[in-house]
Amino acid sequence: MMIIEPTGSACGAVVKGIDLNNQVSNSKMGKLVWALYEHRCLVIKNQKLTKESYYKFASEWGELIKHVLDYLRMPDYPEMMAIGNTEEKDKDDAVRNGAAVWHTDGSYIEDPTTVTMLYAVHVPKNGGETLVADMVAAYEDLDPYLKDELEKLTAKHYYGRAQFDPDEHRPVPIRTQQQATTNAVCEKPLVLTHPVAGHKALYAVAHSPFGINGKTKEETLSLLAKLKAHATQSKFIYSHRYEVGDILLFDNLSTMHRAKEQTDAAKTPDSDNARLLWRLSAKGIPNIIKNSTHSKNITT
Ligand SMILES: [Fe+2]
Repeated sequence: MMIIEPTGSACGAVVKGIDLNNQVSNSKMGKLVWALYEHRCLVIKNQKLTKESYYKFASEWGELIKHVLDYLRMPDYPEMMAIGNTEEKDKDDAVRNGAAVWHTDGSYIEDPTTVTMLYAVHVPKNGGETLVADMVAAYEDLDPYLKDELEKLTAKHYYGRAQFDPDEHRPVPIRTQQQATTNAVCEKPLVLTHPVAGHKALYAVAHSPFGINGKTKEETLSLLAKLKAHATQSKFIYSHRYEVGDILLFDNLSTMHRAKEQTDAAKTPDSDNARLLWRLSAKGIPNIIKNSTHSKNITT
């Protein structure tokens, strides 16, 4: 029997009693989707998946997308990425720690990335956590006058163009002109209303915003710094320490996230410090919602 229980931390729920190698019933899929919207992130425990079965499950959450940095894609499954320290590319600290910075997946592309999931294949003995910040709770905790102001504002985004804190790494580097031009500037609201669940959240106040319409550069930097510091307080954060077989799944429209720094570049996947997560991201809305009367278009 599938059980969904809150983590007991700032956000997130733990899911047990489901084997994703089997077809997930509509009833269970509906419960998972609404649990995600309620808790912002889910940890689905004890999975033993192939790339094929993982891809099939992920496809239920929307249209799977390829990362704009093409050198991160897996050759056999281009929508999938190997995150961690087990690959040749991960010997580069800038790549290995390119997610050790607060961000929202896909905030810098026009069509918003709605869901991301990370499947733990190898887990280091120490560290390797992913931190998830609840941006709905962060929004609700703002002063009413600031909420009113933010509701009217939109921000310009470009990959990696925001200001960064001293404890953050820089985003995974853009390496080619083609990658740079694929990343066009786009605009998003600072307060996003969830297209299915209807709740409001602060949206993507780190990593990619560099301008707020109607504000000077100084005003923009000051407001973004204030919102980022507010949203990343420990009272809004769930820190996930992986076990092999976990899937951490988060709603990008309601959260920000970051990895903890990985100092070790493991040479072999079976070493004590090996970390390997298979990442998949989707845009759009889950099939179970799309095929139901709750269907709405996603626009930000
Ligand atoms: Fe990410």
